[in-house]
Amino acid sequence: MELTQLRKKRIGVLAGGISSEKEISLKTGKAVFEALKSKSYQVQFLEVQDNIIETLQKAKIDIIFNALHGTWGEDGVVQSACEMLKIPYTGSHVASSSLCMVKSWTKMVVQKEGILTPTFILWDSSKEKVDSFMKKLSLKPPVIVKPDAQGSTVGISIIKKFSQLKNALMVAQKFDSCVLVEGFISGKEITASVLNGKSLPLIEIKPKSGFYDYKSKYTKGQTEYLCPAPLSKSITQKIQNTSLKAYDILRCRGAARSDFIVDKNNKAWFLEINTLPGMTETSLVPKAAKEFGLSFIKLVEEILRSVDL
Ligand SMILES: Nc1ncnc2c1ncn2[C@@H]1O[C@H](COP(=O)(O)OP(=O)(O)O)[C@@H](O)[C@H]1O
Ligand SMILES: [Mg+2]
Repeated sequence: MELTQLRKKRIGVLAGGISSEKEISLKTGKAVFEALKSKSYQVQFLEVQDNIIETLQKAKIDIIFNALHGTWGEDGVVQSACEMLKIPYTGSHVASSSLCMVKSWTKMVVQKEGILTPTFILWDSSKEKVDSFMKKLSLKPPVIVKPDAQGSTVGISIIKKFSQLKNALMVAQKFDSCVLVEGFISGKEITASVLNGKSLPLIEIKPKSGFYDYKSKYTKGQTEYLCPAPLSKSITQKIQNTSLKAYDILRCRGAARSDFIVDKNNKAWFLEINTLPGMTETSLVPKAAKEFGLSFIKLVEEILRSVDL
């Protein structure tokens, strides 16, 4: 879609929602809304809770900028509602969104295509008791325990000793009945943004606490971000190519961001892909875009332009 066409559209920025990432969504939504308003786009801020269908039906809009993270927003649910209401929306389609929300599925798919991802074992807490799962577990600490379908580092623990494992499993299963136990990779944390099928500069994430948890993610000054990431040209290219490959295999659209750990042997391990990355002015994708020469509003326009009308 050309920008002149986009100017004629009534854009609704959908934010809030019901997920644990609601507050971040509101920030993303506000940043996108303000940027579009400052450029005189016809834009409305649609703050929702669980009343998404009614809001979409009532709002007089031609296109949705989806700023809802996590449950409903990022997992294919809102995408389905938009499909049924015939409202074009930003970001990945229904199936891609659902697939990428579940970490184990994402890992299985990319692994099949030769992308390196840490070894993992799934615990389905609705089918198996925790003690029985732990008896069979072949992975040895250090491991990382995370809910299979969640974002923003909620319910995640790093386990150094076996004695900490049960507690971590019980915490993670509060967020999703399926829990991922993954081999812990020590190394540099790198995130790779892809915008409309093009790779943006990599970012190295250096949390002061050593763990990129919720606090490190959202508290100012808790984490250092280096963009472009200080890596050799060949490793940079390798990670960029891998993130493009993941984006393509998983059929993402618009902006998506993959998380990697680069170990001491310079192997890049794929952790997950985010199909609805944060878009506050200080978020990672806007940082990478800026380094690439794209201002925040240009990034927002690019995401809107990728929508099929
Ligand atoms: N296998 C792993 N090895 C080392 N660190 C990990 C591993 N998995 C996750 N982490 C750490 O936990 C953070 C969150 O994990 P991630 O899989 O990206 O989930 P989310 O961002 O959805 O919470 C990562 O950014 C990283 O710091
Ligand atoms: Mg992550």
